[in-house]
Amino acid sequence: MLPHLSRQWAHLERLARSWSADISSLFDQSGRMEKLALSTCGIYFDFSKLPLDDQVIDGLIDLTAAADFPGWRRKLACGEVVNPSEGRPASHMALRDPSNRAAIAPALAMAKTVRDGGFGTISDVIHIGIGGSALGPHLLVDALGDPALGGQGDGPRIHVAANIDGGALARAFAAANPATTMIIAVSKTFTTQETLLNLDAAIAWLQAHEVTEPLSRVIAVTAAPERAQERGIRTILEFGDSVGGRYSLWSPVGLPLAVRAGPEIFSALLDGAHAMDRHFLAAPLVANAPVLAALADVWQACFLNRPTRAIFAYDERLRLLAPYLQQLEMESNGKSVARDGTSLPFPTAAISWGGTGTDAQHAVFQLLHQGTHHDPVEFVAVATAGHGLDPQHHRLLLANCFAQGAALLKGRSHDEALAEARGDPALAAARSFSGNRGSSTILLDQLSPDRLGALLAFYEARTFTAGVLMGLNSFDQWGVELGKQVANQLASGKPSGLDPSTMALMRRACLSG
Ligand code: F6P
Repeated sequence: MLPHLSRQWAHLERLARSWSADISSLFDQSGRMEKLALSTCGIYFDFSKLPLDDQVIDGLIDLTAAADFPGWRRKLACGEVVNPSEGRPASHMALRDPSNRAAIAPALAMAKTVRDGGFGTISDVIHIGIGGSALGPHLLVDALGDPALGGQGDGPRIHVAANIDGGALARAFAAANPATTMIIAVSKTFTTQETLLNLDAAIAWLQAHEVTEPLSRVIAVTAAPERAQERGIRTILEFGDSVGGRYSLWSPVGLPLAVRAGPEIFSALLDGAHAMDRHFLAAPLVANAPVLAALADVWQACFLNRPTRAIFAYDERLRLLAPYLQQLEMESNGKSVARDGTSLPFPTAAISWGGTGTDAQHAVFQLLHQGTHHDPVEFVAVATAGHGLDPQHHRLLLANCFAQGAALLKGRSHDEALAEARGDPALAAARSFSGNRGSSTILLDQLSPDRLGALLAFYEARTFTAGVLMGLNSFDQWGVELGKQVANQLASGKPSGLDPSTMALMRRACLSG
């Protein structure tokens, strides 16, 4: 039975209708911190400031049974089909299982060859790919590969070009030396328009700079090796069809990190992810970080109708976390039908958005503190800095991070504001904060490769769990197809059957007669 048809779902709907709890007073219930804050894999997860009480948590735990979460989790772990619309398992967890490391060995060996000069001197790598073929690897290199931020990057510089807008590639060309540049072209399907056009342009650029055999400087990473071969590429790293693009950074797709920082760093990333997988598979549901996070997500998005969830990384090394999570969460769970094709009559995944702190405090936090939306906010921080600057930077960074969560919860009453506003009621209203706004905080002890692996595996498991609780398929993405078809039609210059607004835009941009 689909979860939303169960009595457990109906019970939660009743709880949501009467939900009016003041989160601060929920701390009076004994054991809240013990129940809603936990530590695993070097990461502290604090969900205690979220709008959850014991009754709701019990109801959500009961929903896991109605959704057969243990059964779906077992299927995921055992390589059974969890993606029914494509008839596939989802094998990303297997990629980081130590017993499977042979699968990643060719990619790690390739990274070593590049670093050791097997392709000649290589100063730069242009990584070409889009979506899951870029966001994950880009995040990894940015987070772990920058020596200025304590990263281990002593290998070639990595420049990521994703967009079909030539500007993306033009920037990469400007930053790289063509005489000593390699191309890593990543595409699961090797049919993606952006990647193929950018790849051709990059090969032409090498040629134009007198690289005699440009194809010998290209490594393709794909699940469709025959398509890469058809384009004359000889060096190919393969991964399986059952690894989704947005879950693929653990496969040879993560090659740029191994090239930049070394194979051992990539192995440590896998180890950390595997440690989180073990926690996800074995910890009791009430003390299981990804499960608790998913319960809270489903409660807030589906029952309390909170349509967004913001994620702010209070660490420059994690500045690409929010865009990475947007794809993971929105491409996975942005669905309106259940696994069996029936409509889901409730709001599904929240819109993920966010950025970095403290920058965002001075840009978007106004709405979070005083706007009419009461959507959840997640803070991600690292207890130790990577840079060697004055420790005051990091003290203030963390103080700001924790202050935001505290202020969202506490608010400022009208009376307090009135006193500050010397009795001016309009000013007092403008300076009041409702408070009672929920947030969660994730604090890593350090940003080592294993901790980052664990953090990303946590988000994957959380996304999967939320998908199961909503009864949908987290592993397909049919929603991106229609736009691709229409784009091809428009690019052909012969659009038909489209609306007057689009036709006028085409004429205005001289794309059609
Ligand atoms: O269009 C969506 C999508 O298929 C994503 O799921 C994927 O990560 C991205 O495009 C890139 O696809 P590919 O790796 O096949 O080039």
